[in-house]
Amino acid sequence: MALKDVGNKVPIYKLKTTDEVMKYYDEWGEKDKYNKDMVEWNYTGPKETVDVFRKYTENKEMLIFDAGCGTGLVGLQLKKYGFKYFHGADLSQKLLDTIPKQLYQKIIKVDLNKPIDVKDNFYDATMCVGTFTFGHVKPQALDEFVRVTKKDGLICFTINEGIYKDYGFDKKIENLKQDNKWEELEFFKSDYIASKDVNAWLGLYRVK
Ligand SMILES: C[S@@+](CC[C@H](N)C(=O)[O-])C[C@H]1O[C@@H](n2cnc3c(N)ncnc32)[C@H](O)[C@@H]1O
Repeated sequence: MALKDVGNKVPIYKLKTTDEVMKYYDEWGEKDKYNKDMVEWNYTGPKETVDVFRKYTENKEMLIFDAGCGTGLVGLQLKKYGFKYFHGADLSQKLLDTIPKQLYQKIIKVDLNKPIDVKDNFYDATMCVGTFTFGHVKPQALDEFVRVTKKDGLICFTINEGIYKDYGFDKKIENLKQDNKWEELEFFKSDYIASKDVNAWLGLYRVK
């Protein structure tokens, strides 16, 4: 779907700069509006991603990095299936402030378009849901996810179909395969926000 059509249905997709996007989220986070909208839109990204992720691991003790965690919808979904240990990262302090207490062991405010202040091979898995979309986080973040995730660890993410090629996610994913950085376990078109006619690619990769 062309950006102009999608932008009418999901207004944040019209924004271009990180400052504009953050200002929007800071208002969207007020009075639980973001979470309420996600229920109303039947946003299935967190559920679909965690459903795929849990097919590939039984280890509920693993430490998971939730990159672009927002209000913690991915953490809630992971907890539902018995996962216990998550660290969340996001650039919107307003959204981070709404995360249910004790859901994440650690929450950090970071710009995911910049190098992340985390040691190499630190996490057992990285999840990134809803954050590769118009005007948000760029493909280079995938290099950082590979760096901070342990060998044989899992990286699971969505990419809004509208930016997949335009932002160069197709090339980045392919390059990481060619460079033997990861192997593909799943890659398919998910529902995501089907009620708005917005779908996303859902990928799951194992770090080599
Ligand atoms: C659609 S929300 C998804 C949040 C959550 N993962 C979910 O599925 O509900 C996109 C998130 O990306 C975050 N974000 C956008 N640009 C960012 C950046 N440059 N660095 C870190 N987070 C960013 C926003 O603050 C927001 O929380």
